[in-house]
Amino acid sequence: MTRVIKLDPERPRQEVIERAASIIRDGGLVAFPTETVYGLGADAMNESAVRKIFEAKARPADNPLIVHVESRKMLGRIAGDVDEKAERLIEKFWPGPLTLVLKRKPEVAASVSAGLQTIAVRMPSSNIALALISASKTPIAAPSANSSGRPSPTTALHVIEDLAGEIDIILDGGTTDIGIESTVLDVTTDPPMILRPGWITQEMLSSVIGPVGRATLDEDFRRSPGTRHRHYSPHARVVLIEHGTPEVIEQVCREHLKEGLVGFIGHTALLIEDSSFHSIQLGKRAEDYANSIYSALRKLDKKNPRVIVIEGIEENGQGLAVMDRLRRAASEVISNS
Ligand code: TXA
Ligand code: MG
Repeated sequence: MTRVIKLDPERPRQEVIERAASIIRDGGLVAFPTETVYGLGADAMNESAVRKIFEAKARPADNPLIVHVESRKMLGRIAGDVDEKAERLIEKFWPGPLTLVLKRKPEVAASVSAGLQTIAVRMPSSNIALALISASKTPIAAPSANSSGRPSPTTALHVIEDLAGEIDIILDGGTTDIGIESTVLDVTTDPPMILRPGWITQEMLSSVIGPVGRATLDEDFRRSPGTRHRHYSPHARVVLIEHGTPEVIEQVCREHLKEGLVGFIGHTALLIEDSSFHSIQLGKRAEDYANSIYSALRKLDKKNPRVIVIEGIEENGQGLAVMDRLRRAASEVISNS
């Protein structure tokens, strides 16, 4: 049975944290909030515990996990060759939504890295996450706490939808702040390469360490195995409109309405009066989309639409990370219209 326990995200009750930490130490699974999305955590040094994560999520074994630490000292237990650039990034962005790919130490459970010689690590800024890692006294491997391929969870309810019965305990700290996953930066290469764009942008990284590359889609698939798999998707087919006038967006929605139920997520208000049309309007800033996109996808999916049409946003700064997720969720992209 899965227990859900509500916690104050600023000041979590220590007795609850201790209980969750003892589950981690005993090789169990704990879902917890981070500032990005909810994570599904296990002791990163315990092979059989880490395997439970892959089973619970039905995650392909070739998709490595992010390990969460609560101090620079704990990082030293799992990663080696932390060079000067990495130190500067840690100084500037930790705790926060930046994951660094570093050389791994052999003590880490092998399946965490899915056969790679590297390990992805971050220090989350959520107090619940930090308290849990600290009380567990071990680094915590945690992918997003969704079933593999589904939109990432930004509330405890999303975790329950996907993983009830599979986890021992869910720490409910309310809705996560950012809403999309961390930036993944490989610092084992020169220049360092962004493998997954996120809240910490290329410009923010460059301002601290100079040139930073961005893996092309092909390299992406090769170097960050996880990005190859289907991602962030609701059950419905997703149609992404990259750049569309209100007229074009409306036309696309009306076309699909001829066939059945249509969901729409966008910043443009559409004048479509139809009981088969369900629309969720968001602000047009990157943070508005990041905050709401996964829960909007889950909400519309419950109405069982034929398609969900999504209106894209400007692809700069943090908008890049949002558009990356939308493209991966989409099975059709309409652009230049
Ligand atoms: O914000 C986040 O990063 C959330 C919270 C829970 O911390 N976690 C998360 O984990 O998004 P997950 O498992 O859903 O995504 C991990 C990503 C995948 O794209 C995976 O391929 C990449 O990190 N990754 C992990 N280890 C890697 C490694 N050694 N080399 C390259 N990429 C790696
Ligand atoms: Mg994920």
